[in-house]
Amino acid sequence: MNTDRKHWAVLALTASLSCGAYAQDRIKVGFMLPYSGTYAALGSAIENGFRMFVNEQGGRLGGREIEFFKVDDESDPAKATDNVNRLIKRDKVDVLVGTVHSGVAMAMARAAKESGTVLIVPNAGADAVTGAMCAPNIFRSSFSNWQSSYPMGVVAARQEGKKTAMTITWKYAAGEEMTNAFKEGFEKEGGKVSKQLTVPFPNVEFQALLTEIAAARPDAVFAFFAGAGAVKFVKDYHAAGLHKTIPLYGSGFLTDGTLEAQGEAAQGVLTTLHYADELGTERDRRFRSAYAQAYKLMPDVYAVQGYDAAQMLGVGLKAAGGDIAKKAEFRQAIEKATIPSPRGDFTISKSHNPVQDMYLRKVVGKENQRMGVAIKALGDTGRGCRM
Ligand code: PHB
Repeated sequence: MNTDRKHWAVLALTASLSCGAYAQDRIKVGFMLPYSGTYAALGSAIENGFRMFVNEQGGRLGGREIEFFKVDDESDPAKATDNVNRLIKRDKVDVLVGTVHSGVAMAMARAAKESGTVLIVPNAGADAVTGAMCAPNIFRSSFSNWQSSYPMGVVAARQEGKKTAMTITWKYAAGEEMTNAFKEGFEKEGGKVSKQLTVPFPNVEFQALLTEIAAARPDAVFAFFAGAGAVKFVKDYHAAGLHKTIPLYGSGFLTDGTLEAQGEAAQGVLTTLHYADELGTERDRRFRSAYAQAYKLMPDVYAVQGYDAAQMLGVGLKAAGGDIAKKAEFRQAIEKATIPSPRGDFTISKSHNPVQDMYLRKVVGKENQRMGVAIKALGDTGRGCRM
């Protein structure tokens, strides 16, 4: 072989090798979730749901094998930037999946915006993530805080006929945005929120505030707590005897994934959320039985959000032919998609948040039973989003 021909042969061999290597390269997914603290159970349900969808697809999305990386964010905003940079810079992930806590999610959104890494938020409702901080590479498979709680305000006034209410929550973005959204819906329908009570996150010393509620005697109380904190709050509310005279309402997180532990204390609590137990659809039945079989526990809203985050990634990767660098194809496919979620089909708003039915639910036994649809096809406000 003359030198020229040898040169071409080597080039062709290198090209075919690197092409082969490219086809086999895995897509790196970085879970940044709470695996400890008050939200630990939520983090693992999200991961379970995500993995379940990937497993159903034979471990591949858009033809690419998926490889997982993990960081425990401890729901601590002070550590969030370092934690997300471990995934972006050290592990060089292609996709970030996280997180639960709104304050941590805002740091993730900033890092995703700066680095251009795709971010799919499988829970945290921080309004800004699909509002002022929205970006072409940031998507949410869950809800915005406003979206989860505004409907309960409307129901409390219009349907339940309550005139006065107090709110109680942890003092951070999620609690503040949810209780304010409840207030907005409640007051629009003629109610009045007389006081908004808070405790620092993740404290569970509720006694002084429960005494204050008992003395003020509002018609109703609206609360946002989740995970282990929600278990403690609902039990304390019941133990104080408040449930007998002042009905407890919440965004559905107050009673989701918590009913085993809350038991009797949660009975009758009304909440609004984009999921309920036993929706009765074929899609949901299949999801619930597969999840129960795989993980030996019943799924909750967090498992659904994790599952749907993987569905959204699958839609984007498929359209991009498995090449996540094809940003326009990836993004446009998700923007146009209808996601066949266990919660019911949903589409994605311009600011990349689900547009979805918000159910009214009531706790009966170990289930959040669907009482009806509080608001149909509700989007987020997308306030301040320019893309
Ligand atoms: C949040 O911080 O956005 C958050 C946390 C837990 C939930 C819902 C929202 O269950």
